[in-house]
Amino acid sequence: MSEKDPKSLRSYRWYGPDDLRSFGHRSRAASMGCTQADYAGKPVIAIINTWGDINPCHSHLRERAEDVKRGVWQAGGFPVEMPAFTLGETFQKPTTMMYRNLLAMETEELLRSYPADGCVLMGGCDKTTPALMMGAISMNLPAIYVPAGPMLRGNWHGQILGSGSDVSKYWAERRAGNIDLRAWTEIEDGIARSAGTCMTMGTASTMTSLTEVLGFTLPGATSIPAVDANHPKMANRSGRRVVEMVWEDLKPRDILREASFNNAIAAVFGLGGSTNSVIHLLAVAGRAGIKITLEHFDQFSKKTPMLANIRPSGKYLMEDFYYAGGLPALLKAMSPHLDLTCLTITGKTLRENIASAEIYNSDVIRSLDSPVLTSGGLAILYGNLAPNGAVIKASAAEPRLLKHTGRAIVFDSFDELNARLDDPALDVDANSVLVLRNAGPKGAPGMPEWGNLQLPQKILKTGVRDMVRISDARMSGTSYGACVLHVSPESFVGGPLALLKEGDIIELDVPARQLNMHVNEDELARRRAAWRPNEGIYPRGYGKLFMEHIKQAHEGCDFDFLEGTEPIPEPEIH
Ligand code: FES
Repeated sequence: MSEKDPKSLRSYRWYGPDDLRSFGHRSRAASMGCTQADYAGKPVIAIINTWGDINPCHSHLRERAEDVKRGVWQAGGFPVEMPAFTLGETFQKPTTMMYRNLLAMETEELLRSYPADGCVLMGGCDKTTPALMMGAISMNLPAIYVPAGPMLRGNWHGQILGSGSDVSKYWAERRAGNIDLRAWTEIEDGIARSAGTCMTMGTASTMTSLTEVLGFTLPGATSIPAVDANHPKMANRSGRRVVEMVWEDLKPRDILREASFNNAIAAVFGLGGSTNSVIHLLAVAGRAGIKITLEHFDQFSKKTPMLANIRPSGKYLMEDFYYAGGLPALLKAMSPHLDLTCLTITGKTLRENIASAEIYNSDVIRSLDSPVLTSGGLAILYGNLAPNGAVIKASAAEPRLLKHTGRAIVFDSFDELNARLDDPALDVDANSVLVLRNAGPKGAPGMPEWGNLQLPQKILKTGVRDMVRISDARMSGTSYGACVLHVSPESFVGGPLALLKEGDIIELDVPARQLNMHVNEDELARRRAAWRPNEGIYPRGYGKLFMEHIKQAHEGCDFDFLEGTEPIPEPEIH
């Protein structure tokens, strides 16, 4: 595409021709106060903004879009803001994961059906990042990501509080009777002090960081706190850069290759990132026509050290990470584990992007000589309970539980779990294995973050704070504990978890990557023959579409009809 040829712009088909339809487009642009000088011959930049009053993590994105627009104008583009479905992790039920693919579809179709030449994607709260990326990769127009940025550190009585992680920690203390209502209310007021995403290395910061590693943000963009003055500057520069990208015709699938995803997987471990990143990276790669598997994660886990000393696996928070040099400094520190020749949206390689990065605090961003963890942050397990795989964040579990044998206590639903967990009659001890089923992609449905099952109150009162827990659910990236997640195939569709009975012996062996129930094959065959399929709960609507097309966890939970790179025709303009 040449800058001298505005007719080569995709948007020219809407605005340019001397015909009846273009007359309609131009006259309606005029009705909004736009003159032809605003848009004629200029790249139209769609700003896909997931701002919404119900999403506190994105509460600043409404004004931040104005900074993006300023950049687009400065570079000679025409900005058009397009509000999109906000996936607010805290408020949306049953889970935002149910709607990730819907936002991905919306993003793709907004870009396809309107006169966009390029786009700026604005998100950050957990599923918004993979959703926006999946849609933009499928549409394959020049795209840049503007991450919402993490919120400020939490504070309570001078103690630093981290999103999610400290909620779980202090809730356990409250249930154990060690924290009263007054202290709990003070924590409630101190843990979320500003706009922005969770400031631990939860799913939000993991996914925005991986998006930067994949090459879709300006260097260092993802580490900037949401309310830092450098954040609107980054938004402004992103708006300017995307206009250049349109003229350069630099598209997502020009940037992404298998090595980009290998870098992202390595970064999951360098960061001590969220288990949710496994599912999202599988899905994002699928949209680029690139096949990655659970084995990739296990291989990289075995050889990649964790250098970011950030909660829940480390000590600090995202604000500290930013002051310590942020993601570019981390990537430079772990560069022997990365392919730095990968292209990015700057038009430069990852190597060029991080060349000037420096570490300013060597306890927050460690060197390869003094990692937080040498390897093994996450493990992929197989066995007769998880033939297609399961995931455990080993770095977030008490080490004594990584090889463990115990008796299963089985809950068939989240409601049953809540009803029975604190029943004094529950026959549970600290060695028991808590199992939750029907919490997978189709089971809940939507695979909610129920996987870090709470411990029974009577166990908490003995001082125990971790037990082996198994489910086909996900877990918040801010959570911790010996939680085996994403068991596939899920119990709802008849996976082996559905065959487990209370009292069965379960053996977890993380070093050997095994998860098995000690039930012989004949007995399993009897139970399999007696199993009856479950009925879905959605007779119509999006839920029905979801149930018919969602794939399993080990495949990334995309809809089967959205994967791949088959070309889709441009819309006719009549
Ligand atoms: Fe939005 Fe954690 S709730 S990032």
